[in-house]
Amino acid sequence: MPTPLLESRVPIVAAPMAGGPTTVELATAVADAGGFPFLAGGYQAPASLADEIARLRAHGAPFGVNLFVPAPDLPDEGVLAAYAGAIRAEAERYGIALDPTPVADDDAWAEKLSLLVNDPVPVVSLTFGLPSAHDIAALRRAGSRVLASVTTTQEALAAAEAGVDGLVVQGPDAGGHSAAHQPERMPGHVPTTEVVEHVRAAVGLPLIAAGGVDGPEAAHRLLAVGAEAVAIGTLLLRTDEAGTNPVHRAALADPAFTETVLTRAFTGRPARALRNRFIDEYGALAPVAYPAVHHLTRELRQAAVRAGDADVAHLWAGTGFRSAPEGPAGDVVRWLAGAA
Ligand SMILES: Cc1cc2nc3c(=O)[nH]c(=O)nc-3n(C[C@H](O)[C@H](O)[C@H](O)COP(=O)(O)O)c2cc1C
Repeated sequence: MPTPLLESRVPIVAAPMAGGPTTVELATAVADAGGFPFLAGGYQAPASLADEIARLRAHGAPFGVNLFVPAPDLPDEGVLAAYAGAIRAEAERYGIALDPTPVADDDAWAEKLSLLVNDPVPVVSLTFGLPSAHDIAALRRAGSRVLASVTTTQEALAAAEAGVDGLVVQGPDAGGHSAAHQPERMPGHVPTTEVVEHVRAAVGLPLIAAGGVDGPEAAHRLLAVGAEAVAIGTLLLRTDEAGTNPVHRAALADPAFTETVLTRAFTGRPARALRNRFIDEYGALAPVAYPAVHHLTRELRQAAVRAGDADVAHLWAGTGFRSAPEGPAGDVVRWLAGAA
């Protein structure tokens, strides 16, 4: 039976993964296996997102596009300069001069919104907060179903109030950035099933559950507590079609990495990553300042990836990283769907 909100044959969603891992090839492979794919609109230039949309649309299956909701304020310059000072030695090793001037960056929100309103896609998901009810209404009027990513019941109630069609409920075990609307809050230790149960009791909207899925049983548990579908990120990171960089790919399978932690060290917003030296040394010093810290550390992280340096690269991973397989992404969808 197709899932009512997403209309996919199987209730498995390829979560959006900005920064490289999500590709049109990954999306088409997931769609071909009956799952529902998302494109990652975050960080991309609007023209490049438009190109991805056109390529995926040509494939014929329904899909979603994820956008980052911009944060309103620029951080304090002194706070950013202090963090730049803390990590300066790391940058100097790569010959990089850090620029602590806060960059105004709304991830081209208005341009991407207008792209999606003028050329609508079946589903739009939003993360890092809620835009105005006006923007949500514009996407819905254009014909898209709009989903908000939430991490608490309070955020779910606010999203329902703002007029969305459904929720992506993300638990703290999820890999990559927390979708928390308040980045100063470090997510606690709650299983995703529990977050879903609480949200389900408070809000009547369809729910997609995400975070920490490591196999069919975990997917099944989330469906059993009322999620319409289960979104996976980490389990797709090592697949053939993912654009995950080689350092990240190798680290996910390297026994030297034994755990994941939530950290602001790389971007100024809580994100779950494989625990490495950069997190251990700077995590406690990092300010709550996204995307300013993302811009501050970006060149350093890119240099680390080029050099194969897994001590400094950001290695986003959910708690299920040990189960992330190599091979076709379609196999991962079929593996999980077997228990759905
Ligand atoms: C590498 C990576 C990049 C991500 N990028 C995004 C993104 O662009 N937008 C978003 O809403 N979530 C993003 N996430 C979070 C996922 O959408 C999803 O919530 C998470 O992967 C689910 O947990 P799991 O990784 O344990 O399966 C990302 C996750 C990873 C691992």
